[in-house]
Amino acid sequence: MKVLIFSGSLRKESLNKKLCHVVTDIFHKNNLAEVHYVDLQPLNIPVYDGDFETSQGIPAGIMNLGKQITAADAIVVCTPEYNGSIPGSLKNVIDWLSREKPVPLTGKQLLLLAASPGALGGTRSLWHTRQPFEVLNTHVYPEMMGVPKAHEAILPTNTLADAKMQANLERLVKDFANHAKKFMQSSAAQEAHDTAPVQARPTSTGGTTASTTH
Ligand SMILES: Cc1cc2nc3c(=O)[nH]c(=O)nc-3n(C[C@H](O)[C@H](O)[C@H](O)COP(=O)(O)O)c2cc1C
Repeated sequence: MKVLIFSGSLRKESLNKKLCHVVTDIFHKNNLAEVHYVDLQPLNIPVYDGDFETSQGIPAGIMNLGKQITAADAIVVCTPEYNGSIPGSLKNVIDWLSREKPVPLTGKQLLLLAASPGALGGTRSLWHTRQPFEVLNTHVYPEMMGVPKAHEAILPTNTLADAKMQANLERLVKDFANHAKKFMQSSAAQEAHDTAPVQARPTSTGGTTASTTH
């Protein structure tokens, strides 16, 4: 399984970028997926402006990110909380991605995480961040997690200082990976069914049928 991971914060010393690395290590150490991290800062994504889109089209950074999302089976986004909500940088990326057709986010499995130096771990932003993704038919995993006091909680070893929190994050990442794999398998089975020659489609009684409605 291929997972794309990125932070909603652009800055170099971002706690959410650090959380991305913690999560990447969990995926890799447990052989759950091949994870690719993408840094949004060098993509230089402009603020969405309909006039820009009309005159110059979708920015190269968004086309690049869209391709990487399309190639991934699942996505993980670590987001900061700004004023109790989704940061403009991430909302802007979602808005631009929604202008690509087909929308690269549609149908993807997504795990949402947050990191904040505050006591709530950015969990208020998670609820707001779900919304635009869900509007685009991204399958946002029901469970989300915020890492509070992230400036102390995230160690340079790409682990969390609190063993219980690390174990909980590992459990969540594993659950998400299993869920996303099951979804991939059922999507592949459905696609095989849909593309099989009509006369060769198996029925529940072991025969074949020409009907697509069982
Ligand atoms: C404009 C702005 C608004 C913020 N609002 C919140 C907030 O509502 N809740 C919170 O926990 N932290 C808030 N913070 C602090 C961020 O959580 C903190 O800057 C964090 O380090 C940002 O994530 P990053 O390290 O990944 O860049 C805010 C920061 C900024 C710049």
